[in-house]
Amino acid sequence: MTVCYSCCLALLVFAPMILGSNPGVEVRLTQKGLEYGRQIGMASIQKKLQTISIPDMSGKERVKVGKVEYRLSNMHIVNVGLPSSTVNLVPGGGVTLAISNAFINLRGNWRVKYLRRIRDSGSFELNVNQLSVSATMAVSSDPTGRPNVSSTSCTAAVGSARVKFRGGASWLYNLFSKYIDRALRKAMEKQICPLVTKAISDVNPHLKTLNVLAEVDKYAEVEYSMVRSPTVSQSYIDLSLKGEFYNIGRHQEPPFAAQNFSLPPNASRMLYIGLSAFTLNSAAFVYDRAGALSLYVTDDMIPKISPIRLNTRTFGTFVPQIAKRFPNLMVKLLVRASANPVVRLEPGRVAVQANGTVTAYAIQANGTLTPLFMLNLETNISAQVLLKGMRLAAAVTLNRMSLTLATSYVGDFQVRALDSVLQMVLKLVVIPTVNVQLAKGYPLPALGKMELVNTQLQIYKDFLLIGTDVGFTA
Ligand SMILES: *[C@@H]1O[C@H](CO)[C@@H](O)[C@H](O)[C@H]1NC(C)=O
Ligand SMILES: *[C@@H]1O[C@H](CO)[C@@H](O)[C@H](O)[C@H]1NC(C)=O
Ligand SMILES: *[C@@H]1O[C@H](CO)[C@@H](O)[C@H](O)[C@H]1NC(C)=O
Ligand SMILES: *[C@@H]1O[C@H](CO)[C@@H](O)[C@H](O)[C@H]1NC(C)=O
Ligand SMILES: *[C@@H]1O[C@H](CO)[C@@H](O)[C@H](O)[C@H]1NC(C)=O
Ligand SMILES: *[C@@H]1O[C@H](CO)[C@@H](O)[C@H](O)[C@H]1NC(C)=O
Repeated sequence: MTVCYSCCLALLVFAPMILGSNPGVEVRLTQKGLEYGRQIGMASIQKKLQTISIPDMSGKERVKVGKVEYRLSNMHIVNVGLPSSTVNLVPGGGVTLAISNAFINLRGNWRVKYLRRIRDSGSFELNVNQLSVSATMAVSSDPTGRPNVSSTSCTAAVGSARVKFRGGASWLYNLFSKYIDRALRKAMEKQICPLVTKAISDVNPHLKTLNVLAEVDKYAEVEYSMVRSPTVSQSYIDLSLKGEFYNIGRHQEPPFAAQNFSLPPNASRMLYIGLSAFTLNSAAFVYDRAGALSLYVTDDMIPKISPIRLNTRTFGTFVPQIAKRFPNLMVKLLVRASANPVVRLEPGRVAVQANGTVTAYAIQANGTLTPLFMLNLETNISAQVLLKGMRLAAAVTLNRMSLTLATSYVGDFQVRALDSVLQMVLKLVVIPTVNVQLAKGYPLPALGKMELVNTQLQIYKDFLLIGTDVGFTA
């Protein structure tokens, strides 16, 4: 009974998450991207290894000359070289990092006392070679839906070490190679993995800059949190992001869901971003709900050179009743979407279907708006999409429109007669107004101050694919 109850509860809690969990955006990091990451990572690890600090060491040993008291101090790293490293993906697991043939040069001072009273001192250099480090890291999603890397294992081994002395007698070398060398190598080895692990976790502050909720404008924001943990395959890391527009502060799911889509195997760029038709349609839903898809068109918005003006004389030539009942008045149109527009992505093209209404009003001398008629409008629009920095922008063109009469306050008339006037209004005013908004674009998922270079954009069935290399400005 109890078990069943908690099962039901769990299902109730998780069912909506599971159903709505298809990503709207897929981000793929390719081998090339990983290689770029490796270079940044190596620079960071190198910096970290420079900070190895070995505490002073002292002791007593019996060598050829008798009992020697020694002390090594002021040991510091002078050089770290990481000439070769590789990053590999473990399908279904994480990422492995292998550093080989690395070297570390350390300098310090030595001081000895022997035969009770003879003192000597000088400096030395320790060259550690054939250092190898192997680290594994896991990539997961943190509670905010941002990626998180953590190291799951690390081993470090020092191959060989050679010491050079300045000053001192040759027996010092024996003292060193017999007793001190090992201790120094141990002390150094012990510090490498914690520093590499730290370098790995230092990536997280950068990953936390993922814009999981990116503001678009006063109406909308777009959510880019991960819907599940990243998938690691043979040659990619894929991040599945929500990719959904919402009204700011009022998150309501649209009556349609994201469809699964899979990215093509392109790999010539560091990063591929697949944006689904769902993302674009969630935007249409949000702007429609916000009441942003309506526009009053008045005569002053019609370019001066147009011979067609928005007044009762113009409309009167097609609908004589209008000229008769409302002589010499200006006309105002309200163009409004009647349902949220639908965006379809087909190979090579973006099509938008938008239905709406056009209501015409005569503007009375006292400012009162008197309705003349309302028309239903169906349009067929195509869109061009383009990248503007880290934003995706668009421009639409009207292909076709058709009008039918919804309501007339001025008797029957042939709607067809108004086609040319309304076509002009759409092409000269409505579409350009929409394009001013679309030209601003909306933010793509990004980390910090990321820049896209060498971008390619292609339209597939149901998704857009952006292929790009990336760079970061500090
Ligand atoms: C993120 O990674 C850090 C170490 O890199 C780890 O301590 C932390 O627990 C991880 N957080 C999550 C939510 O996985
Ligand atoms: C989408 O794909 C994921 C992973 O392949 C799968 O788990 C999920 O059930 C799929 N969802 C739908 C609605 O097909
Ligand atoms: C527009 O209207 C037509 C005819 O009523 C309908 O078939 C179509 O689905 C509508 N499209 C949209 C996007 O509402
Ligand atoms: C404005 O003028 C129209 C036409 O002359 C008239 O019918 C209407 O009552 C007037 N409205 C107001 C608020 O004065
Ligand atoms: C929209 O117009 C384009 C170009 O004229 C045409 O290819 C397409 O079939 C039209 N779509 C619809 C739904 O009418
Ligand atoms: C993906 O690869 C195909 C085939 O090489 C190419 O035609 C297309 O332009 C590529 N698309 C992107 C976005 O890189």
